[in-house]
Amino acid sequence: MILAVISVMVACSNAPSTIIDNANNTDVGLSQPAVAMPDSYSADAAMQVLKEGGNAIDAAITAQFVLAVTLPEAGNVGGGGFMTIKFEDSTDFLDYREMAPKSAHRDMYLDQAGNVKPYESLFGAKASGIPGTVAGMWAAHKKYGTLDWERLVAPAVDLAENGFVVHEKLANNIARYISRTQEKGIKSNFSDYFSEAKAGTTFKQPELAETLKAIQQQGKDGFYKGEVATHIVDFMQQNGGLITHDDLQAYKAVWRKPLQLTWQGYELITAPPPSSGGVAVAQWIGMLEAYDATHDLPAQNSTEYIHVMSEIGKRVFADRAEYMGDPDFVSVPVKALTDANYINERAADIQPASISDTPSIKPGLKESEDTTHFSIMDRWGNAVANTTTINLTFGSGLVVTGAGFLLNDEMDDFSAKPGVPNFFGAVGGEANAIEPYKRMLSSMTPTLVTKGDQVVLVTGSPGGTTIISSVAQSLLNALLYDMSAEEAVNSPRFHHQLLPKDTIRMHNGFTEATVNELKAMGYTIDNRRFGDVHLIKRTKEGVEAASEKSGRGKSIVQPY
Ligand code: GLY
Repeated sequence: MILAVISVMVACSNAPSTIIDNANNTDVGLSQPAVAMPDSYSADAAMQVLKEGGNAIDAAITAQFVLAVTLPEAGNVGGGGFMTIKFEDSTDFLDYREMAPKSAHRDMYLDQAGNVKPYESLFGAKASGIPGTVAGMWAAHKKYGTLDWERLVAPAVDLAENGFVVHEKLANNIARYISRTQEKGIKSNFSDYFSEAKAGTTFKQPELAETLKAIQQQGKDGFYKGEVATHIVDFMQQNGGLITHDDLQAYKAVWRKPLQLTWQGYELITAPPPSSGGVAVAQWIGMLEAYDATHDLPAQNSTEYIHVMSEIGKRVFADRAEYMGDPDFVSVPVKALTDANYINERAADIQPASISDTPSIKPGLKESEDTTHFSIMDRWGNAVANTTTINLTFGSGLVVTGAGFLLNDEMDDFSAKPGVPNFFGAVGGEANAIEPYKRMLSSMTPTLVTKGDQVVLVTGSPGGTTIISSVAQSLLNALLYDMSAEEAVNSPRFHHQLLPKDTIRMHNGFTEATVNELKAMGYTIDNRRFGDVHLIKRTKEGVEAASEKSGRGKSIVQPY
């Protein structure tokens, strides 16, 4: 159903809410255990935890460790992530983002002439931030876990030790990665560890199995202290990396207040800084609503819709570049950036048929891309949206010798030099400059939506800066354009991030007429696919879960 009048009220703003024509439609069916996962191993293992009476957080912990084995492109123990939680009557947000090592400094990726050295923040030991995943899962278990830690880590240990059958898509990703890094002359031990992972064969990871056993037996200390820590630090010293024992022991996962806002009679519960994603999604859906106050709501994926959403994206990314960083180091004006009046003003000059001049879009007040996401709902209606990353596909490309896991290249998410784009084409400034123990700005946006205090949507995606578009559009598809979970994740998406100028990144699947109309308006079309949305939708009719068909995901809903 297309709404005649929509408007956003951000929870922390004082602007008035307006008419919501489905506000009384608060009933949803009983909750059902449901998982939407990036691969079959994580889906089956997480569902088994739910069937044994574990809650959504228990299942998330199991999924995170399984993905470290079966989805090495992005699943990890050598990276970090964010977890958005609705548990009973409360909401919560776990920040287990990597931190810059103590000896990191703002100019560490610049040459003597002050230019950014290509690849240093992307490949090799110096590209890694201090990993946060194990500390994050340990913190989640301490606060919300009900099943034994040892039980939750066990499926990952088994899959690493006894092996899993390699999916064709994983085998292709590995082969492509090896040939590309060899072509570029990038030094890496990746092929020593992964070249035997051929489609349809059983692949074992004995070193990783030992690391996971240490974590299983000793918890967080099994990673940040002892033998695994020594493997990490020795590897850093031998390969020019910065992470020390002190750094590993200094790492802390942080519980933060999620960003919450009301929209259309729903409550969004999403990622606060150091993610830019929650603020960006709030701005994106808010500016669409502000546009709709003076124009008819454009049909989903029409030329006008893609253009208007692209104009909004320009404004969103101008703000992101200027204001967003680690809230423990810089003051991020979240309240001002999500204020309804500010959002209305930002949208006021959007024209339905003409492209704005890119250099005129300034910050308004006076960040192959991987990462992976999963969504879980348990029988009690608790829910977890979890996005986790080692940044690019296979992270830094380096496996810690003796410990068997890939390290992140998350340092590239900092702004190496103001105005110089990172891998994702995102520019940044002072707020996201490198500092010791600072967390790099992220776009990860694990998001929950509630209505009448019941979770009705769980969504998220990988994809660097495109995460924000995938989350905003999956949410709009499911709730504003009332699509089923399958339709919401598989409907083609698009992304615009201010720069490169007037360029829209688009999935295949849009009509030729729409693409031609956008080109006639002056847009350049970039056809590289992005994202892998895993979404759960709960309605009166029950619970639906869907994983985007282009990936190797699996979704399961346990019948009543
Ligand atoms: N490394 C991608 C992100 O955190 O946005």
